[in-house]
Amino acid sequence: MEALALQHKAEQNRVLRERLAQLKKERNAIILAHYYQRDEIQEIADFRGDSFLLAQKAASTDADVIVFCGVHFMGESAKILAPTKTVIIPDERAGCPMADMVNVEGLRALKRQHPNAKVVAYINTSAEVKSETDICCTSANALKVVNSVDSDEVIWVPDKNLGDYVSKFTNKKMIIWEGYCNTHDMLTIKDVEEMKRLHPNAQFVVHPECRPEVVAMGDFVGSTTAIIKYCKESPCQEFIVGTEDGTGYQLRLNSPDKQFHFATKYLVCPNMKVNNLKKVVKALETMKPEIYVPDHVAEQARQSLERMLLVK
Ligand code: 13P
Ligand code: SF4
Repeated sequence: MEALALQHKAEQNRVLRERLAQLKKERNAIILAHYYQRDEIQEIADFRGDSFLLAQKAASTDADVIVFCGVHFMGESAKILAPTKTVIIPDERAGCPMADMVNVEGLRALKRQHPNAKVVAYINTSAEVKSETDICCTSANALKVVNSVDSDEVIWVPDKNLGDYVSKFTNKKMIIWEGYCNTHDMLTIKDVEEMKRLHPNAQFVVHPECRPEVVAMGDFVGSTTAIIKYCKESPCQEFIVGTEDGTGYQLRLNSPDKQFHFATKYLVCPNMKVNNLKKVVKALETMKPEIYVPDHVAEQARQSLERMLLVK
């Protein structure tokens, strides 16, 4: 029975992939997918990446249509960086709870309390919040961005865990918002200890969105891309992975002979998994849902994103 269901699914996906290829040509579309997307989406993506690589790609593509497979703030960033392109997403319900933990009113109040501070926003924020900031960053460039601002004080929104990690390596005084990623924040010391007991030869690689005490256990700490690169280049053959489970697709593709154990079965972002192949095809068929960002918001937010892209 299960074999039959699998066969049926494989046939369905084959038909969907054929339709997708046709639509992509007709629309001159590019499909961008975050590493946390389902395998069936990463398989058909023209480009896979973390938040930083995807923002860079959106800013430089010559396609007319960007199908952004990730969460809402990523589609918004793509639209802001590529305002003449049509940006569509597979499902508008794919949001990011961490991004929703900071709003414009709260940020303005904090800015009033710290008038000399520059505001660094993790890219996991709404366009409105970005429009109130000086510069954006991702987990791939957070420390460089913080060090690049011309003030001793930095207001950091919204991820307290990444903020804590960056604060250990900078001389800037960081005023850190209390947001967090529901998925990464779920990982505990106990989970990692148990996995280390089961896999004593494995190295623990961890994303800085995890809790500080969990990050402190890491043999390697880095963004999704940095983790993927480290695992590929390391002579180690076995890893315990402390980031979202979709990353397994690229890890296994790069290093088919290595073993990857996700640190808990809960490292799954339900928001990222709202998207599927069928919805990608439907979005290109109907050209909906489309991302819109009001001009006045986009202009301000673009400055923050573009400043980030210039940081070396
Ligand atoms: P990166 O893509 O920067 O690794 O961030 C992880 C994440 O949680 C994206 O939502
Ligand atoms: Fe947001 Fe965390 Fe999901 Fe990334 S993994 S989209 S930060 S909830």
